[in-house]
Amino acid sequence: MSLVDVRWIELRGSEDPRGKLGFVEGERDLPFAIRRAYFLYEVQPGQSRGAHAHRELRSLFLAMYGAFDLLLDDGRERKTFRLDDPRRGLFVPRMIWRDLHDFTPGAVCLVLASDWYDETDYYRYYEDFLAAVRAETEVLPTP
Ligand code: TYD
Repeated sequence: MSLVDVRWIELRGSEDPRGKLGFVEGERDLPFAIRRAYFLYEVQPGQSRGAHAHRELRSLFLAMYGAFDLLLDDGRERKTFRLDDPRRGLFVPRMIWRDLHDFTPGAVCLVLASDWYDETDYYRYYEDFLAAVRAETEVLPTP
């Protein structure tokens, strides 16, 4: 996968004088069924999260409250996205290294994920991730 496959997904919702409501349905609004949700909160000043990639997992990142930066790296290039709107999520495909940083005080990041937690799906060392990207994109020389 590459950063080209990363995309913003605008969530549906409703708004009236009482306030706002957002919603998301797996497979309808997202290119995967939702098997898990997890959230990051009370991130301490100056701390970052993530620093890993997934072999198969696909995710939607949302800033439920506040804002944070999501740095994505496909092994060839990297790009930073600012998440600051609960109705605008960032879809991250498999095989993308991610780093979350610069959380505003009290920010809450919600992640909707395509599968249950599985430690064997993680690349926790950047060098291992890079080697896997190279192996996947390796073009065999023509005879
Ligand atoms: P980890 O994925 O390392 O967090 P980060 O996003 O900062 O890299 O998860 C931290 C700990 O929480 C780790 O021991 C695994 C556990 N964990 C679960 O058990 N289930 C989950 O769904 C997640 C995301 C983490």
